[in-house]
Amino acid sequence: MCGIVGYVGNALSTKPLDVALGGLRRLQYRGYDSAGIALVGPTGLTVVKRAGKIDRLEAALFENPAPPAYAGLGHTRWATHGRPTDANAHPHVGGKGRVAIVHNGILENHLVLREELAASGVAFGSQTDTEVAAHLLAAAYEETGDLTAAMLRVVARLEGAFTLLAVADDAPSTVVGARRSSPLVVGLGAGENFLGSDVAAFIEHTHDALELGEDQVVTITPETVSVLGFDGRPAIARPFTVDWDANAAVKGGFSTFMNKEIHDQPDAVAKTLLGRVDAAGRLHLDELRIDERLLRRVDKIVVVACGTAAYAGLVAKYAIEHWCRIPVEVELAHEFRYRDPVVGEKTLVVAITQSGETMDTIQAVRHARDQGAKVVAVVNTMGSTIPRESDAALYTHAGPEVAVASTKAFIAQIAATYLLGLYLAQLRGTLFADEVRAVLTELRAIPAKIERVLESEERIRELAISMADVGSILYLGRHVGYPVALEGALKLKELAYIHAEGFAAGELKHGPIALIEPGRVVFVVVPSPRGRDQLHAKVLSNIAEIKARGARAVVIAEEGDDDVASLAAEVIFVPPTPTLLAPLVAVVPLQIFACELATAKGLDVDQPRNLAKSVTVE
Ligand code: AGP
Repeated sequence: MCGIVGYVGNALSTKPLDVALGGLRRLQYRGYDSAGIALVGPTGLTVVKRAGKIDRLEAALFENPAPPAYAGLGHTRWATHGRPTDANAHPHVGGKGRVAIVHNGILENHLVLREELAASGVAFGSQTDTEVAAHLLAAAYEETGDLTAAMLRVVARLEGAFTLLAVADDAPSTVVGARRSSPLVVGLGAGENFLGSDVAAFIEHTHDALELGEDQVVTITPETVSVLGFDGRPAIARPFTVDWDANAAVKGGFSTFMNKEIHDQPDAVAKTLLGRVDAAGRLHLDELRIDERLLRRVDKIVVVACGTAAYAGLVAKYAIEHWCRIPVEVELAHEFRYRDPVVGEKTLVVAITQSGETMDTIQAVRHARDQGAKVVAVVNTMGSTIPRESDAALYTHAGPEVAVASTKAFIAQIAATYLLGLYLAQLRGTLFADEVRAVLTELRAIPAKIERVLESEERIRELAISMADVGSILYLGRHVGYPVALEGALKLKELAYIHAEGFAAGELKHGPIALIEPGRVVFVVVPSPRGRDQLHAKVLSNIAEIKARGARAVVIAEEGDDDVASLAAEVIFVPPTPTLLAPLVAVVPLQIFACELATAKGLDVDQPRNLAKSVTVE
């Protein structure tokens, strides 16, 4: 969950430092409790690191400017071993300070290695697992005199998930990286090359990139990029072009990334649909590289995901089961991984993930494939681990989601899994072509509907400000509204640090209604009155039940639904939308509410406390 940057160029300049700091700023969402840089120039190695956000590191560099350099590393940390302190910040130096290393991941055998090194006389300056790798690298470098060879020796000793970048004081034209179950991509330049946790690290310098595979060591110089397997044999890295520009990763005039990304949602849906429906309205998922005969034989779908991505899977369950008549199980990846799931060659596993690096989901994907299942990744980040380890990838094109709490990725995940469901229904003939076309037409109308919901932003902001002191909020929904209620509650927890809980509305009378008391705020996601009418009537009954006990019902309902007006304290109307597509618009007011309430409380909505954008440890 850390952000790492590497650079090497052929000029002695401040560019290695500029690239490192610029990259770290864009990678802060991967972790931000400490930061540091390492530079290699004619005077050898310079390392500067500080606890706290990057501002503190930059202040230290302002006070004591670093010398010009040819190569550099940068690291922004999300602590796993050792508190956020200057000493525990990366880079870590090894041996006599001749090598510096930055790390993303967890070295699971670091204690054994630490004892072995200490017994040989190594003195440790930090509590981190990473420092172990630094000392191993220093020893290997002393023996080999070659940073690549030294890295190969080190990775042979390590267990766990890691991305490592390293430099040496007498090798200013070389940066070496290694990855296992943790992200690393190469940026290709002219007379310079880059490394990063993801493309945001170097996006303002190049759009040409290389996707590294599992267990690979990469060596970059100003003119060359070489890739070896951990076995020392040449390996292949896949080139790709990044379709994001640097601007997409900055706030675009909005006050926060969270605000920007909520407003990006119409575009996120539109781009996810782009190029996948032909003029005749037929669906084409060319990237779904799984034999159609296998897809026709699928008798169960299992979604594996975490957090918001899991709620996207819960929404998709209702639609895919309705369209395809295949049972869809939605499993929290960390639960799926460690129980004995019934998965086989006729199971299609769908791994939903924004980052593509969530370790819980990675492990679930590996487990599913070991059981013979085919795996499709629904993923937003190119060059990430999960699509590489899946049989096929269906990319959401939501663009970089920088705010730690997910919004546009959630919406895009629903749209993409709907495309997958419609594709399967089209392939298996459980929907006629005109039925698929009808749903696709409704999907293409969603961006405009989200735009209309965004017009209510000011009113929702006022509602949020009026509730800035609320202690706890409940969220109710039925059918596809139920996962929307869960996601609304999660957003409030993540952003405003307020206790919130989502329930299936039908569950209220089976216990949670005991929580209802005068003044209790309850958000209720009301289904369309034009859909399955019994759904609408039952949710109205739920509102009456809580109103009778003094609750303050804030209702998300369809424009024209006059029945709710008399029951609710507040109604936020959304455009009429078919029942199965309603989550794509109903969730937006809940996202805005959570964001505005957190803002009213003066909280950092982009980097909430304790969270990281990509949970790359189990
Ligand atoms: C989203 O608001 C949360 N930050 C979190 O639940 C996230 O959805 C989850 O960690 C999964 O991340 P992924 O989509 O990158 O796999």
